[in-house]
Amino acid sequence: MATTTEALSRSKFRSDRTQRVNESVIREMTRLAMEHKAVNLAQGFPDFPAPEILKNAAREAITGDINQYAITWGAKPFRDAISAKYRRTYGLDFDPEREITVCCGSTEGMMASLLAVTNPGDELVIFEPYYENYGPDSLLCGATRKFVQLHAPDWTFDPDELRRAFSPRTKAIIINTPNNPTGCVFDRKSLELIAELCQEFDALAITDEIYEHILYDGAEHVPMMQIPGMRDRTITINSMSKTYAVTGWRVGWVAASPDLTESIRKVHDFLTVGAAAPLQEAGAIALALPDEYYAALARDYQSRRDIMLAMLDRAGFRPFRPQGAYYVMAEISAFGFENDVEFARHLIEHVGIAAVPGSSFFFHPEEGAKLIRFCFCKKYETLESASERLLRI
Ligand SMILES: Cc1ncc(COP(=O)(O)O)c(C=O)c1O
Repeated sequence: MATTTEALSRSKFRSDRTQRVNESVIREMTRLAMEHKAVNLAQGFPDFPAPEILKNAAREAITGDINQYAITWGAKPFRDAISAKYRRTYGLDFDPEREITVCCGSTEGMMASLLAVTNPGDELVIFEPYYENYGPDSLLCGATRKFVQLHAPDWTFDPDELRRAFSPRTKAIIINTPNNPTGCVFDRKSLELIAELCQEFDALAITDEIYEHILYDGAEHVPMMQIPGMRDRTITINSMSKTYAVTGWRVGWVAASPDLTESIRKVHDFLTVGAAAPLQEAGAIALALPDEYYAALARDYQSRRDIMLAMLDRAGFRPFRPQGAYYVMAEISAFGFENDVEFARHLIEHVGIAAVPGSSFFFHPEEGAKLIRFCFCKKYETLESASERLLRI
């Protein structure tokens, strides 16, 4: 009989696919932050309350006994609300019966979509730096990754490099706009360029648009589906997490043409059956909120962004000004540390602030060795406390 330690190291029970995936650095930083009572500017969740109207709606749904499985691809009122919101906001029409799948957050939406459309060995084009889940997501479905750099300070890509990343084996390109971690917002021209390549190489665009309403300085979110030729060549992934400050609810959705949706729903059904039924009811209320809700959201995050930029400037960083999402990438060369991970540890242990080392957003860690990411979806007093602490570096 093996001892517990031996049992844990028995490689027979570790699948090849898990061996290739490392633990999330962001979650590790969150754990370290708790240990050192550091201000957590690492993981992107708000430390302020969710809107009262949504909390009430969720309570009412539970009290009203909406407590059993919803239809696997999503409760009808929620799918209807999603469809109505896309029509109202972007003039995009989705059939809620055949084109929308409600998932457990956009995290499941991305995994279900990739598993639905890729075969092992297919190529995926991914912009780098990238939201760290896209690494394990693509590994778990056995895809080969082709990375294309987004270049600071404005995080644009080189069209020739993008073209070189496409091949007849390309199944899809993953696009996240507004972007985590860089804060860049892909403009119409960039999306048109990507769309041309998708059409030329018969590839899909899988777009993660969860920061669609968090935009600054007049930046505009353009859904890839609005680009000519892309309506049925795009899988759009979104979620309640960021727009409604409910990251713990785990309610997201995927919008795609009926043939793509059919495969996505199969994967989704067997992965999770469905997202929390009462929270989908509350989701229907959320998606019907008036335009002013979204305008206020963007205004509010813009003022938090400005506070964050000012405090990083004052502390000696070189921050890159985001146009969307709620993160700032900053350059750390001025502090003379060996690399970003050393610097992030120093920040937690001696300054009392948790942030994410830039290398966790790159395939080759050295490319992010001079970068660190701070998130600013935090109470004003949290930001103020961080600002005071930053002066201790
Ligand atoms: C770009 C991006 N996509 C997806 C997620 C996860 O979203 P969800 O909570 O909907 O799973 C995050 C969370 O930080 C993110 O930044």
